[in-house]
Amino acid sequence: MIKDLIIRNRTYRRFYQEVAIERQTLRELVDLARLSASAGNLQPLKYMLSCEPQKNDLIFPHLAWAGYLKDWPGPSQGERPSAYIIILGDTEISRSFGCDHGIAAQSILLGATEKGLGGCIIGTIQRDELRKVLDIPSRYEILLVLALGKPKETVVVETVNSTGDIKYWRDSEGVHHVPKRPLDEIIIG
Ligand SMILES: Cc1cc2nc3c(=O)[nH]c(=O)nc-3n(C[C@H](O)[C@H](O)[C@H](O)COP(=O)(O)O)c2cc1C
Repeated sequence: MIKDLIIRNRTYRRFYQEVAIERQTLRELVDLARLSASAGNLQPLKYMLSCEPQKNDLIFPHLAWAGYLKDWPGPSQGERPSAYIIILGDTEISRSFGCDHGIAAQSILLGATEKGLGGCIIGTIQRDELRKVLDIPSRYEILLVLALGKPKETVVVETVNSTGDIKYWRDSEGVHHVPKRPLDEIIIG
């Protein structure tokens, strides 16, 4: 079951934008992060939610999509995320956030997958601009943005081939391919 969920939990970058996600759904997803591991149990993460088209429009321009797909500028209007969860680090609780935000992101995305949604962890963010448009106080470090929606693309996982190329790619049918290194290569002892 967990392996099936993890295989289904792919990075999606094109969505049925018209399928709305309610704030309550986002709250349920953050609750999964709340219950997840945290170094020293400090729980320094805070979250900002967006599921309103106007607020989504403020966030979208400050995100970078699919660096390896050089001729694709990101999802076009109509295929954009219908919601976002912005993961923030509260510097009044801790100065460093370790891998707490990675764990939180994975919990949220697994929960989203179970609900028939999908998303993308975005780390390449115009942080200063995003802080400005959302009026995020300086005490919060912007760690990750999770883009969420009803996936509109097929993503397949495959094994890295003999060239060793790990770059994801999109075929002529629009199917997104994600090469993963083989198990025997990553277990080194
Ligand atoms: C910390 C982190 C940051 C990421 N940042 C971005 C990003 O800025 N833009 C993007 O399109 N994808 C981003 N991704 C998604 C990765 O490209 C994706 O996980 C990878 O291609 C593997 O695909 P998979 O998630 O389906 O296994 C990020 C993923 C992680 C874990």
